Amino acid sequence: MSATAQPPVAVAPVTVIVPTYNERENVAELVRRIGAALGGYRAEILFVDDSSDGTADEVARVAVSAPLPVRVIHRESNSGGLGGAVVLGLQQAAYDVCIVMDGDLQHPPELLPAMLARYARGDADVVAASRYIGGGDSAGLGTTLRLGVSKAATAVTKAMFLRRLWRSTDPMTGFFLVDRARVDVDVLRPQGFKILLEILVRAGERHDLRIAEVPMAFGARQHGNSKATLRQGATFLAHLARLRFGKMGLFALIGGIGAVANIGIMWVLTQAGMDYLIAAVIGAAATIIGNFVLQELFVFRAERHDASRLWVRFAASVSFNGIEAALRIPVMAWMVESWHISSVLATAISLVVAFFARFLFHALVVYAPRKRKTADAVAEPAVDTAAMRVLRAIDAEAMRPGEL
Ligand code: GDD
Ligand code: MN
Repeated sequence: MSATAQPPVAVAPVTVIVPTYNERENVAELVRRIGAALGGYRAEILFVDDSSDGTADEVARVAVSAPLPVRVIHRESNSGGLGGAVVLGLQQAAYDVCIVMDGDLQHPPELLPAMLARYARGDADVVAASRYIGGGDSAGLGTTLRLGVSKAATAVTKAMFLRRLWRSTDPMTGFFLVDRARVDVDVLRPQGFKILLEILVRAGERHDLRIAEVPMAFGARQHGNSKATLRQGATFLAHLARLRFGKMGLFALIGGIGAVANIGIMWVLTQAGMDYLIAAVIGAAATIIGNFVLQELFVFRAERHDASRLWVRFAASVSFNGIEAALRIPVMAWMVESWHISSVLATAISLVVAFFARFLFHALVVYAPRKRKTADAVAEPAVDTAAMRVLRAIDAEAMRPGEL
């Protein structure tokens, strides 16, 4: 233990939780480096192990000469995978302040004091080590493809849980500090890898968790293999869908209703003898306005309050739809020409991509939280017309799509 490491005063004792699945080769160095980083702190290391390679025995061996208490819980049956192991760790930790980190040295233990120092400032319930903020680095993720997938997954996830994840640049990181006293550990039902996401979204139900971040350099794995597989990816998608089926599903439903209404309006008007071009314009306008009202009322109800003004939202939403409509046909033609796929397939692909783009744009741009106005007592007095009061009344009756 180095005599130079001096913890700042008033740093709470900490349990470092390390989930392990066949990490035998990494245990000794991990314990040595955590011990060095936390010299002088009150701390313990708790391994939660599902290995079949003797990792637990290695932990027991290393514990004997470790500079801090080291415990290991070896699970007979692996329930809930990595996420399940972390939840058990949170339940069994000796201290409320817990830091979860990987056991493969991809998470540098040298960052532990910085996370504790950030937490000690007292304005956060969670401190995450982010690969994506200034000074952060995700080189250890490996291929450009995996980095791209990771970034895309982060964007979609943030869009789906706009309010709770707004301040998090890396809700998927596996390296984070959480104050157990501030979360409801028993409600956590993690599936696979994305445990921080689960904590931020589900355990912050009663009060939103305040999240702070420190930059981290995500290192390359030294021994053994990553357990992240395609299957993990699928589990993640299913988990996301389960956490937030409401929002995106509803958005899709409203889009579908709009399309049907558009056709219906055109049919009625042309039957009544109107020129089909004029009927088309009226149908499109009615659909655009109708969709906007429905999405305001049902999909982004909660986000509206902190977002920009009504007319700004309307203009942004309508502009996006216009640009999308103008771009989709040429892009489709380009796909048919250069990929040599059928026009039906091209249409299907372009519609699916357009749908996700539309949802992302609305979630991340149109309904993005703006800086809170000094007093949020009177929201948007300029548009508090009779129409808005009626909208609000319907609004109050409307059932809100919830998170599980
Ligand atoms: N107990 C237990 N049970 N531990 C597990 C299990 C399991 O079923 N599966 C994996 N682990 C442990 C590993 O031994 C390692 O210590 C840690 O969890 C992370 O597993 P890796 O296989 O190294 O995952 P990764 O590097 O691909 O993913 C990491 O980075 C992701 C961000 O890209 C993890 O931190 C993820 O949580 C994170 O989302
Ligand atoms: Mn890893």
